Amino acid sequence: MKTIIYWFSGTGNSLSVAKALAKQCGDAELIPIAKAVKNPPLSAERIGLVFPVYGWGPPALVAKFAEKLNASPDAYIFAVVTYAGSQGGTLAVLRRILQKRGLDLAAGWGVKMPENYPPLGGAPAPEKQQTVNAAAEEQIGKIAAELQRSPRGRYEKSAAVWRMLSRVIYPLFQKNVPRADRSFRSDEKCNGCGICAKVCPVKDIEMIGGKPKWLGHCEQCYACFHWCPQKAVQYGRSSKQHRYHHPAAELSDFL
Ligand SMILES: Cc1cc2nc3c(=O)[nH]c(=O)nc-3n(C[C@H](O)[C@H](O)[C@H](O)COP(=O)(O)O)c2cc1C
Ligand code: SF4
Ligand code: SF4
Repeated sequence: MKTIIYWFSGTGNSLSVAKALAKQCGDAELIPIAKAVKNPPLSAERIGLVFPVYGWGPPALVAKFAEKLNASPDAYIFAVVTYAGSQGGTLAVLRRILQKRGLDLAAGWGVKMPENYPPLGGAPAPEKQQTVNAAAEEQIGKIAAELQRSPRGRYEKSAAVWRMLSRVIYPLFQKNVPRADRSFRSDEKCNGCGICAKVCPVKDIEMIGGKPKWLGHCEQCYACFHWCPQKAVQYGRSSKQHRYHHPAAELSDFL
């Protein structure tokens, strides 16, 4: 059975999950959501959506993509979300979006992975990253095994209180996302390589006079911040934070 796994990722956590599941599924294709959202998405008998949790819900780009997902009502649709603390109501939000299109989210899992959000302290120290990723790897193996049986009605739910809070927090968070790139700047370590502009999934960075300029339609994935080889992208007072990407993700995956 052909599987298409659509993925969105800033620092490779979600991409590493997508890669691992694709390997297990056999006949599987990995497609970045940032590309699929522009071109008419393909359809398949089995469709996976793998992405990070942003403000207790799906990233805006993922929500937009799900709203126009091209799939047969019989398709087996599953999702795996990665998060650092709590997924809130992310799977429930996705499920509601798909239901509006007459589609069913058959199964959904959440995987705890390293934090990558600078406003909340950013990535943990390397030793902690390794511990969290080791636990995640074990969980991803279990998800892959479960997926072989194509379960239906199998959702990982967070507590009702988080799901309710999510209904308030998520829309507020989304409202501020595009403008949040006003806090980005490049510092004196910038050598004008342009990698930050190339990894940006929504072309929010333009190189002007050899320096990046943020254009105000950011998705807050923090790829520019974490993938800059010089650690020259700063966000607010984040300059001392660890830069992080999952070991299974490579810069070339994002270019
Ligand atoms: C803009 C933004 C918002 C986030 N919001 C949440 C959140 O609400 N709950 C949570 O547990 N983690 C949150 N995180 C952490 C990420 O979901 C987590 O680190 C994820 O695994 C990153 O995946 P990626 O490497 O595929 O981008 C957030 C990260 C970012 C960048
Ligand atoms: S990736 Fe870093 S060094 Fe390269 S242009 Fe961007 S800010 Fe400068
Ligand atoms: S500007 Fe940076 S944080 Fe915003 S979408 Fe582009 S790469 Fe992601």
